[in-house]
Amino acid sequence: MSEAAWDPPVRRVRVGDRPVGRYHIETWGCQMNLLDSDKIAGALERRGYERAREAGEADVVVLNTCSIREKAEEKVFSELGRLRALKDRREGMVLAVCGCVAQQEGARIFERAPYVDLVVGTRATAALPILLDRIRSGDRSARRTADTELRNDSLLFPHDQIRREPAAAKAYVTVIEGCNHRCTFCIVPTTRGREASRDMDDVLAEVRQLADRGVAEVEFLGQTVNAYRDRRGRTLADLLAAASRLGGVRRIRFTTSHPAQMTERLMDAMAASRPKVCPYLHLPAQSGSSAVLRAMRRGYDRDGYLRKVEALRDRMPELALGTDIIVGFPTETDADFQDTLRLLEEVEFDTVYSFVYSRRPGTPAARWPDPVPPPEKRRRLEALQSLQKAIQERRHAAYVGREVEVLVEGPSKRTSSEWTGRTPEARVVNFAGSTAPGRFETVLVTAATAYSLRGELVRRSA
Ligand code: 5AD
Repeated sequence: MSEAAWDPPVRRVRVGDRPVGRYHIETWGCQMNLLDSDKIAGALERRGYERAREAGEADVVVLNTCSIREKAEEKVFSELGRLRALKDRREGMVLAVCGCVAQQEGARIFERAPYVDLVVGTRATAALPILLDRIRSGDRSARRTADTELRNDSLLFPHDQIRREPAAAKAYVTVIEGCNHRCTFCIVPTTRGREASRDMDDVLAEVRQLADRGVAEVEFLGQTVNAYRDRRGRTLADLLAAASRLGGVRRIRFTTSHPAQMTERLMDAMAASRPKVCPYLHLPAQSGSSAVLRAMRRGYDRDGYLRKVEALRDRMPELALGTDIIVGFPTETDADFQDTLRLLEEVEFDTVYSFVYSRRPGTPAARWPDPVPPPEKRRRLEALQSLQKAIQERRHAAYVGREVEVLVEGPSKRTSSEWTGRTPEARVVNFAGSTAPGRFETVLVTAATAYSLRGELVRRSA
């Protein structure tokens, strides 16, 4: 696709200056979902909708759901009950459910919540504005439509994304959707479908456009981002090399990588594309026990994972590593769990996202007995988190007295008198002083906790 075709002119369907309606989107869960909501918002704005100040003032309310870990199938109905009350008060309000629960439950949602108008699956989001038009123009046949076909619509309208104002320091760019792995705990293959990669030229055109708007950092997104391979056979290694040659963009990241697909070629491309490609990698191990990894069907064992880490650190000694761990998997014994603790000690991750195993409908592990009692699962989670906290405290303490480069993201969550940003290794840094989102600053680290660094502004670096 040529670049001109890729970024069509905005077509706003408006009657005079008035919007065709107002929309409100409620988003659950992951980064992927936040980006999907941005895409839906962009598609609606192109269609002439305006963002409502709150749900009660909206003509269209979209609930964008996530089902990766929570018992989302229940949560969705309690949330819909709340939205129904708004709908009862506002004539003509259209209620749509999107995201993974929509994909998973489909038309079943209408059985328990007949007041829902639309159910749109994860790869049919592009159909949403048209279906809304039909419903709002009184076409009764469009009501209670469930469109959950796994097309690649959502990959095809990235240019519709609206970007948060003021021009954000960083932006996410979807490069691949879906997942071809079959991990026994995971619902993603059901809810997001098989892998589909976007054309590399499309991706680069979007990155160029973001850079022109002043975005300093892009993060490539995909459930298994390192499986990226476009129709011409170009892989994530090629994309990193090409993106790092573009002017404007100063930092490049990508997430989430599957360890089994972390090839030497990709490691080489990361190392060669420094410093633009940041020295941070999110590499979910899920467990440190080979037996559990086999039952999870992860495609690597404990040693295999450790060899990947070693190969990465050989090339990039400064690399920071993040991981995901599930505790209380059905086959996990206490000895398996101890192996996971030892993995954390051995690797010394910079960040660990840890979760208690949760049975997901339709996954292979959901059919197995789940013998680890809930209090034991929680005990394991707490033990893991307290070990990791000590590791992070130790690693962060070593930063005190050092100068770091920070890309300013915005005001800090805790105190509005401070700014927050990240180092290339994705460490959070808070500091006071005069700056603005999107600027790069040098900060002298004066204090550290397990989760963030605090420092003083040194001087403008650029
Ligand atoms: N239970 C608990 N955690 C899960 N994850 C995925 N599926 C489950 C599940 N059924 C976690 C994994 C994954 C992260 C996004 O969510 O650690 O990497």
